[in-house]
Amino acid sequence: MSKLVIEGEHRLNGAVHIHGAKNSALPILAATFLAGESCEIENCPLLSDVHAAIKILEHLGCRVERDGHTVCINASQAQGYEVPDTLMREMRSSIVFLGAIAAKSGKAHLTFPGGCELGPRPIDLHLAALRQLGLHIDEEGGRLLCRVHDRLVGCPISLSFPSVGATENILLAAVTARGTTTIFNAAREPEIVDLCNFLTACGARIRGAGEGTIVIEGVDRLHGCRHRVIPDRIETATYMGAAAITGGSLLLKDIYPEHVQALIPVFEETGCQVTAWRDELLVNAPGRLRRIRTVRTLPYPGFPTDAQALIMALTCVAEGTSVFIETIFESRYKHVCELMRMGANIKVEGRVAVVEGVSTLSGTAVECTDLRGGAALVLAGLAAGGTTEITQLHHLERGYEAMAQTLAGVGAHILYDGADV
Ligand code: UD1
Repeated sequence: MSKLVIEGEHRLNGAVHIHGAKNSALPILAATFLAGESCEIENCPLLSDVHAAIKILEHLGCRVERDGHTVCINASQAQGYEVPDTLMREMRSSIVFLGAIAAKSGKAHLTFPGGCELGPRPIDLHLAALRQLGLHIDEEGGRLLCRVHDRLVGCPISLSFPSVGATENILLAAVTARGTTTIFNAAREPEIVDLCNFLTACGARIRGAGEGTIVIEGVDRLHGCRHRVIPDRIETATYMGAAAITGGSLLLKDIYPEHVQALIPVFEETGCQVTAWRDELLVNAPGRLRRIRTVRTLPYPGFPTDAQALIMALTCVAEGTSVFIETIFESRYKHVCELMRMGANIKVEGRVAVVEGVSTLSGTAVECTDLRGGAALVLAGLAAGGTTEITQLHHLERGYEAMAQTLAGVGAHILYDGADV
């Protein structure tokens, strides 16, 4: 079984390049299915989830070529409409293909993406919105059998919650629908803006990306384009955390500081000094972190749920008591048990977690419970006394490219699978 072995208590120092955003790359890859010509997607991270999205595109009949971080997709001959259950399960966000497949192929046969490590992950908002656009959806024994009569038709859609995935599915279905679609209470995440920029470069007509109301005027067809995926703000947060928890100093390069604005005051509250330039950010950490009064996860531009576990790792060794309120996902504290194995003092009651900082964590054997929970264990391992062994790495591989090599490059004592990195 592959594992990461970390010898903690080494201060990190140096510069880290941040990769393209997984959560942008996935919907953009799904969107390339809509374009009638080739698309070239640059800065695509090398991750298992991206690989799964490419497999779905190939299964649908696209020609896909990959050269390092650039992926070329030609969907001009692709007429597929079915995604097998094995591929749907490989990547939880595979549901974002639904809007694109239905719009292009006129029908779509998918299976439910299923529950996940963050608790139940319903898609009711996706399905209700697509039905409003005229998609007929039969739900049969875990399968979604969808068909379009003639063409999808634009309409006003109000989301009861600004769901990222639902907003993406509506965008993909609406860009080539007949007439105008207005999304009220749309998600405002930078990944939504990136998807809209990609679609616009392909000829779509979209206004209001990044705002609560997005207006899409349907066009007959999309053409190809070249697009560069935005930097990953959660990978950025992770390495900010690595600097903070080791009392270190890391310069994060090729990022958009404005995408981590909600995190900067939180790091400053712990005593870190954060300096931002145009596309770089420097984090200088104090000897001992201070507690954070309250972290409440919220839709963008609020504090991201994907950074909750990361910041919790810091508070485990901070001076004082910190409180977390998880408002986005029902069950996003699975990493707590693993952090407690390392000596953390955490109490969870429903959506609230209270962390009493301890002076030191101790290395031991722990398991990744999910992607960001796994990254939190890596952070904890970097600070812990002794050796931390982390297994169930497939979670980490979904979202972090070359994490062990990157950390080793800035001074971490970390081995992958027992071999020096
Ligand atoms: C995306 C991100 C994920 C991030 C999340 C919130 C990707 C691949 N994943 O996930 O990393 O943590 O946004 O920022 O981009 N909900 C419903 N019904 C629906 C859809 C969502 O009840 O039809 C609920 C979910 O259960 C959850 C909340 O809405 O409680 C947020 O979900 P959503 O914004 O849709 O997140 P994802 O798109 O799944």
